[in-house]
Amino acid sequence: MPAIILVGAQWGDEGKGRVADWLAGRVGLVARWGGGDNAGHTVMLGARSFKLHLIPSGIVRPGVRNLMGGGMVVNVLRLLEEIDGLAAVGVDVSPGRLALAETAHIVTPAHLALDGAREHGLAQDGQQIGTTKRGIGPAYTGKARRSGLRAGEMRAPEAFGDAVKRAVAQDNHTLTAIYGAPPVDADQAAAAYTEAARRLKPYLVDAVRCIDEAFAAGEMVLCEGAQGTLLDLDHGHYPYVTSSTTTAGGALTGLGFGPRHVSHVVGVAKAFSTRVGEGPFPTELSGPLADRLRGTGENPWDEYGTTTGRPRRCGWLDAPVLQYAARVNGLTDLALTKLDVLSGLDAVKIAAGYTFDGAPVRDLPTDAAVLARCAPVYETLPGWSADIGDVRIFEDLPRAAQDYVRRVEELAGVPVWMIGVGPERDQVIIRYPLLERRTVARDWPAVGWTWAKPTSHTTPARRWNRCPGGSSPSRRASRSPCLN
Ligand code: GDP
Ligand code: IMO
Ligand code: MG
Repeated sequence: MPAIILVGAQWGDEGKGRVADWLAGRVGLVARWGGGDNAGHTVMLGARSFKLHLIPSGIVRPGVRNLMGGGMVVNVLRLLEEIDGLAAVGVDVSPGRLALAETAHIVTPAHLALDGAREHGLAQDGQQIGTTKRGIGPAYTGKARRSGLRAGEMRAPEAFGDAVKRAVAQDNHTLTAIYGAPPVDADQAAAAYTEAARRLKPYLVDAVRCIDEAFAAGEMVLCEGAQGTLLDLDHGHYPYVTSSTTTAGGALTGLGFGPRHVSHVVGVAKAFSTRVGEGPFPTELSGPLADRLRGTGENPWDEYGTTTGRPRRCGWLDAPVLQYAARVNGLTDLALTKLDVLSGLDAVKIAAGYTFDGAPVRDLPTDAAVLARCAPVYETLPGWSADIGDVRIFEDLPRAAQDYVRRVEELAGVPVWMIGVGPERDQVIIRYPLLERRTVARDWPAVGWTWAKPTSHTTPARRWNRCPGGSSPSRRASRSPCLN
């Protein structure tokens, strides 16, 4: 049986948790492949709201196994808190249902301190990334430097504790000498991590074998992405990114299986755009409209960070972002969440492209400084006023809402499979049976933009890369904007 890869198509917080929860009802194994507790995935079940940071969203579905993959960085103290929190409300988090790859890397208390100290330093010059301060960057730095600790070392808790102590002591040099920050108590860290290792030892597995066995048993595997395409270390707007591979390729390297197993790559996109942290955001709004999209915080789904509680920056949907996500991930289908939040607006806008110094630009620039200077060119569509929370059939949506969805899939070049009309598990419109239909990647839609080659004001020598074949007559001829 195949693997479905679920990725965020924007800047994170698209609603991956709720889509993963829906799909988890149809698979045997849910596996997170990257990131750490910088992620915050929400699953709402009536009065109960689960906020998952490290544990895959499949944990909420009885009978589904859940794996934290080798590409992740894991703060073991936070993992135990999460396990205990779920157990306290009756969720089965026993080692039979939850597993941790022995190749996953460990986030130490020194990583958290380094993250905070670096951000503090950068903020002096207004250069901060706006990280979640969960130690993610320093943990991946240690991994790349080949000085990191891996989860498998927890098999020998005392030796693991000693290794934590040495690692923290080493990072303390950087903390004190480079950042002038107070050192972390290495003995205390060692004691806490030794104790955590004793408890987490039974969860350790060979993740590659675990996934291979699921395939061999004919199970479907859901690979649950964290963060979003534009936060990808390679493909996002560096340096305003996280430190992991958030795009579809990361599922293969982070979990350890080959591309032949992948049947679907589902991109989760919000019906508008949000971002937390710093970095360019062309369609960002301010004032009453931004406040309207963000909400006051009164509703659990209002736009405040699941991990940090920070208000999310809000703006209109951005088609170049979705087209880029479709390319980078090879999206076969889209899940469009939070359509209900747009209900009640007189008009809704989508950025169909950008201009740079007045010249039209079709593709998403990959340089943060260039993107920051791009101005969105909007299409304005009529809004709708009806409450759509109870709609389950696409054709029952107000005509304007249907048109909005159709325009999104035309611009993205990817069919919209699922539409979120509320946060609850059943508040979705399913437009076609995903698993029975193996969709094929489509050509990019014609949106009428000519190629432009703007240059960054900070890096004048840098040029756009033309997309080879992107404007060739044969590709143009085969474009089919109608996806239904
Ligand atoms: P994730 O990180 O991608 O899993 O997303 P988050 O959980 O951080 O943020 C998404 C928020 O939107 C959560 O509060 C979800 O419960 C909520 N949500 C997801 N889909 C919908 C939807 O279709 N409508 C509404 N109103 N809320 C939704
Ligand atoms: P989920 O999985 C939204 C952002 C941070 C910051 C940047 C780097 O819930 O969608 P980091 O702590 O990773 O070094 O921060 O990435 N970020 C997220 N934004 N959703 C997330 O996860 C995020 N994880 C990291 O705000 O801008
Ligand atoms: Mg989130």
